[in-house]
Order: sequence, then C-alpha cells, then structure tokens
Amino acid sequence: MIQLAPSMLSADFSNLERDIRLIDEAGAHMIHLDVMDGSFVPNISYGAPVIKCLRDKTNKIFDVHLMVNEPIRYIDDFYNAGANIISVHAEACTHLNRTIQKIKSLGIKAAVALNPATSLSVLDYVLEELDMVLIMSVNPGFGGQSFIPSALQKIRDLRCVIESKGLDIDIQVDGGITVKNVKEVIEAGANVIVAGSAVFSGDAQTKVSDFLTVFKEF
Ligand code: DX5
Ligand code: ZN
Repeated sequence: MIQLAPSMLSADFSNLERDIRLIDEAGAHMIHLDVMDGSFVPNISYGAPVIKCLRDKTNKIFDVHLMVNEPIRYIDDFYNAGANIISVHAEACTHLNRTIQKIKSLGIKAAVALNPATSLSVLDYVLEELDMVLIMSVNPGFGGQSFIPSALQKIRDLRCVIESKGLDIDIQVDGGITVKNVKEVIEAGANVIVAGSAVFSGDAQTKVSDFLTVFKEF
C-alpha cells in the first residue's frame, strides 16, 4: 500500500493543531515532522517540545525526519515526544550503526535518510537493520524546491537491492513531490510519499484526496 506523509514544514505554524486535524481527517497515513538545526542544514524549524504538544492531536504515525548533526544526542527526546519512526541522515552520524541501534532499542522504527549526492553504498552494512530508507529528492533544508530527477534511478536501484535480498523495508521519498510527478516516483519503487508544499499550498484536504486518488492506481 502506498502511504502519504504530509510534511508539517509547509503548514501554518500558528495553526499546527488545525492543520494536523485536517490532513488526519482527509486520510493521510503519517505526519512527517522536519527537524532542522541550522547546522546540518541551513535552516531552523522546530524541535521535540513542539512535537510533544502535537502528539495528542492525532493517532497517526509521527514520522520524525531529523536534519541535525549527531542526532544520537536527541533520540531519547524525540522518542519521549512521541515519535514512531525516526529518520537520521547518514551524512550527519559519525556512528551510524550505533545511532540506528539506539533508535531500535526504544522499540520504534529506524530509518536512514540520504542526501541527493550520497550513494546507496553507505547502506551496505546497515540495510538489514532498517525499517525504512528515506531518499531525499531535494537538498534538505527547505520546502517548495524542485524534484531532482536523479532520485528516480536511486529509488529503482534501492528497490532492486531490497527485493534481491528479500527484505521488507519501506522506501520513502521526500522533496518536490506533486500530484503530477508522484506517479513516476511510485513506479520507480517508492511506497511512502512525503509532500509539503503540494499539500499545504491550497486546500489541504483536497490536496490529500488528490494524492490518495493517484495512489489507488497502484
Ligand atoms: C526538506 C524537508 C521536506 C520538505 C518537503 O528538507 O525534508 O520534508 O518539507 O517539502 P516539499 O514537498 O515542499 O518539497
Ligand atoms: Zn522531510
């Protein structure tokens, strides 16, 4: 099943509760929460205290995308804030295996995110430990950027590796996804779709339904 994870980065920060309820009611599967530290990426968003405040507004999965250096320092905080999935960037972890083990030790799902220029080979010795891989299709830091087409081949290659090893790992894709290009992202092998500006640029509930209509074809 293809799942939609709207990114709250493009929501109205003065109305996060309202926006979460809107996408929840419209049938979004997960809530994608982008955490930026102004160091790993050139932007600052929000952190664990904000996520904790939102936790009781929905029962949907909290999918926390940590764009921070050495995220191992904050895994407990995001777990306590209610994260169900935590994604860490391979580029931001000195000890990637240790960071993944830390997330798994809390009984939640672990994912590794890769920047557009990062090779899939960084996953060679950790793939079996993961619940999800996050392929970035923009350089992380901002919503509203254009999809980088080379991500499509990367998704195909990763799907091939996962299938050849008989693994059960989700492929999430994040950045520049719209109702128009989502089909080729799914055809390439992605099954969890993040969309920020494409959901919150208009009527969020209509936009969520538009995505879900495309998903029905698969
Ligand atoms: C980018 C974030 C994304 C972002 C996606 O650094 O990780 O989740 O919100 O926004 P759009 O869909 O507008 O590219
Ligand atoms: Zn994200």
